[in-house]
Amino acid sequence: MVKNKPIGIFDSGYGGLTVFKSIAEKLPGYDYIYLGDTARAPYGNRSFQTIHQYTWECVQWLFKEGCPLIILACNTASAKALRTIQQHDLPNLDPSKRVLGVIRPTAEVIGNYTKTNQIGVLGTKGTVQSGSYVIEIAHFFPDIKVYQQACPLWVPLIENGEYDKPGADYFVEKYLDQLLSQSPDIDTLLLGCTHYPLLIKKIRQHLPEHIKIVSQGEIVAESLVDYLHRHSEIENNLSRADAQHFFTTTDDTADFDHYAKLFFPAPVKSAFAEIKC
Ligand code: DGL
Repeated sequence: MVKNKPIGIFDSGYGGLTVFKSIAEKLPGYDYIYLGDTARAPYGNRSFQTIHQYTWECVQWLFKEGCPLIILACNTASAKALRTIQQHDLPNLDPSKRVLGVIRPTAEVIGNYTKTNQIGVLGTKGTVQSGSYVIEIAHFFPDIKVYQQACPLWVPLIENGEYDKPGADYFVEKYLDQLLSQSPDIDTLLLGCTHYPLLIKKIRQHLPEHIKIVSQGEIVAESLVDYLHRHSEIENNLSRADAQHFFTTTDDTADFDHYAKLFFPAPVKSAFAEIKC
């Protein structure tokens, strides 16, 4: 497919497109290949072993397409698979390759948004149970208290095209109420799943006005700019001549193209990615 060296962007499904959009805006000159594992999404309720296996298979597929650098634009994969990939899989396969996640760059800056030092994090069951945000945020902002809420039905609603339909309101309100009942002083809400920005209008409607909503797209994009600045050995290895955007999916390409239209103005013609298990 791509004969050069694109930046790989991976998500279980369409959610990573919210991050890809911001990255492509901030770093327009590079070649990119996006892979959505839509056939096996959602990942959020799956076991550690399964999430690691699926993510690693997709990462290896992107490596075969020539990517020297891959962004896991998925909190669940970042929480459950990234450490094993970085510490075990990559050194065995090819230590020159890089795989980065979305949790650490978010944790590095999220404390700058709150005045009450109380943050709410919404994520998949996998992300919340991993405790990754609690641990990482404590690292950078030890005074901040993090309240978490899993929203297991949000990704299925989004992947099934229900994110802007009236039925979604019930589950948006339900999980927000559960989060806010944990503390009246939460003033910042982190959307700790890259799918959730698709629900942002409904989240805003059901959230008290004074609570800020933080999505990850721009945060991750800024962090990648900084990373490439600091790592010229990786940056020099990326192709940027054609600024090509390739989209690939492990399931129906027409469905994928429909979603991609929400984020990318030019018509998207995705290709089928066969991930061999
Ligand atoms: N976009 C993924 C995330 O950020 C969704 C995970 C899923 O497939 O459930 O967590």
